[in-house]
Amino acid sequence: ALKIFTTKKEITDYFNRKPVKVIGYVATMGALHKGHLGLIELAKQQSTQVVCSIFVNPTQFNDPKDLEKYPRPINEDIRLLEAAGCDILFNPQVTEMYDDNEKWHFELGNLEHLLEGKFRPGHYQGVTQVVYKLFNIIKPDIAFFGQKDYQQVLVISKMVEALEMSVKLVMCPIEREPDGLAMSSRNIHLSPYDREHSLILSKTLNWVKENFDINKIDTLQQQAAQMVSSEPGVELEYFEIADGKTLHPATPASETIVALVAARVGKTRLIDNVLIG
Ligand code: PAJ
Repeated sequence: ALKIFTTKKEITDYFNRKPVKVIGYVATMGALHKGHLGLIELAKQQSTQVVCSIFVNPTQFNDPKDLEKYPRPINEDIRLLEAAGCDILFNPQVTEMYDDNEKWHFELGNLEHLLEGKFRPGHYQGVTQVVYKLFNIIKPDIAFFGQKDYQQVLVISKMVEALEMSVKLVMCPIEREPDGLAMSSRNIHLSPYDREHSLILSKTLNWVKENFDINKIDTLQQQAAQMVSSEPGVELEYFEIADGKTLHPATPASETIVALVAARVGKTRLIDNVLIG
């Protein structure tokens, strides 16, 4: 049965009483879907006990309206975690995680200013702040993150390395709806009209992957941006073909290349990406 803890002390006491060989950890903000459940599934395969956290972290929301309307279907989430065979849910209140006026800064270099960093000021400060705390509370051996938030994986890797945190990170593939839309807790905000036009993101990413030519990156990027921008109801924020490690523009020397897109579809902000080559 799923154990539900809401305080740091409960988690610490539990693992002190019952040491676990491999703690696998999946951090989430809830409104669980198949993307999250895929991470839980991988975590189960690679660990002795799986901990999932659900915490809608206020410090990573740069838009107060987005925080306010973020879905919080906790009872449904608990049901899904039970069905998935998750062992422990950590579901703290904001006051359990933060004191008033807490300060945090982690030097992220360019990751803070590129792509998501540029369009969501402060977002990765909030992400590193909460993930640092969650890692210290849960003390996972392995933590599973989705490729869906590709830049977030780079940001967390950078933090884990810089602060010598002893956790192994695993990046899991993007789960998609049958028609290609990347699963996201925010998809429920899409109207039927938005939902239809949201497909331009995954379609364009696939088009870039299929037509990829390292010598034509600029043209491909421009065409892709044009394809997304000309879709009705869709407002492009960025489309970048980037080096998979630095997120700077891809070059022939790039070991991995990733195409990343962010756009507003109606009122909903969506992101997606695809690894190339
Ligand atoms: P959240 O958006 O709930 O995502 C939790 C985890 O699920 C992240 O690692 C994310 O990349 C992964 N994920 C989301 N959609 C996915 C999909 N379609 N396929 C595969 N994985 C997917 O990311 C966060 O929460 C927060 O920033 C968090 C790390 C919990 C810190 O607050």
